[in-house]
Amino acid sequence: MIILGIESSCDETGVALYDSEKGLLGAALHSQIDMHKLYGGVVPELASRDHIRRIIPLLDQVLSEANISKKDIDAVAVTEGPGLAGALLVGTSVGYAIGLALNIPVIGVHHMEGHLYSCLLAGEDLKFPFIALLVSGGHTQIMKVASPGKYELLGETLDDAVGEAFDKTAQALGECYPGGPAVSRFAEQGTPGAINLPRPLLHADNLDFSFSGLKTAVMNTIRLAEDPSAQSFKNDLARAFVDSVTEVLVKKTVKALKKTGYKSLVVAGGVSANKQLREGLIKACKKIGVKVYFPPLALCTDNGAMIAAAAASHLQNIKTLPKEGFSIKPKWQ
Ligand code: KG4
Ligand code: ZN
Repeated sequence: MIILGIESSCDETGVALYDSEKGLLGAALHSQIDMHKLYGGVVPELASRDHIRRIIPLLDQVLSEANISKKDIDAVAVTEGPGLAGALLVGTSVGYAIGLALNIPVIGVHHMEGHLYSCLLAGEDLKFPFIALLVSGGHTQIMKVASPGKYELLGETLDDAVGEAFDKTAQALGECYPGGPAVSRFAEQGTPGAINLPRPLLHADNLDFSFSGLKTAVMNTIRLAEDPSAQSFKNDLARAFVDSVTEVLVKKTVKALKKTGYKSLVVAGGVSANKQLREGLIKACKKIGVKVYFPPLALCTDNGAMIAAAAASHLQNIKTLPKEGFSIKPKWQ
């Protein structure tokens, strides 16, 4: 079946065509990062308006590049939530309209379930059960995934998401949103151990996280620094931040793997693009004989392909267009 995937929950308009047998047929994406940069973060009203401008041209582009006619689409998958209400409405209303016009099913997908399935886009055969570490700008979760659609939350952040902590750290170092890639780049040049930051909840007897204290520690270190604008200081602080985050994420993930006895780990969400985190997880998992799956680098952040891939796992259960119309769930748990 050919599934059209649409993502518009935040600042990326993503459209993709995914074949449940052959995999990804084509994808188009527009990122609004340059527009929001000026404001230091995503401005919801501007985001919705830009999704409206972009979505139909992206749809036309992906159909033409994949050489697929609209009538070949068998189902539509849209991000139903969580996310910005106005932004979600753009993708869901376009998706539902296409479903109505073609009389095909429309499947509402949870944004984080989309991230979870983005590993399928690396072309690997994902075997259940597995532990998922979901690390994005809005979520930090450890999930037990026994079978498709069976998710048990084992732990999550009690305050900020790890991506948010990356972004705040980058902002404090004078870098633009989204700051993850800049912090990672600086960290590569930094000296390990030159600055020490706390490892929040590292020894707590649970699988939860906390990153707001770490963010405060970053701010305090900058406040007390002799020359906070020196590149060497920025590099060392970024290194300390990345080392702290990596150690905590790796330790808790290994704990979850040992607790469940599962032998596969899926890492997904924007922060799964992080080099140091990838290296830390690969090393730790090798020691305990666990196979780690990552999405392709270009598909770690938001995109339409992951939404279509997630919907493919629900196809058996959804056969018709939703009669009650479409919905959005901005605060979907
Ligand atoms: O999954 P995503 O695109 O959007 C949400 O669902 O939130 O994740 C965006 C987050 C941002 O906080 C961004 O700074 C972070 O992912 N990010 C990274 C890297 N690339 C993106 N964080 C660390 N290292 C990276 N290379
Ligand atoms: Zn996301």
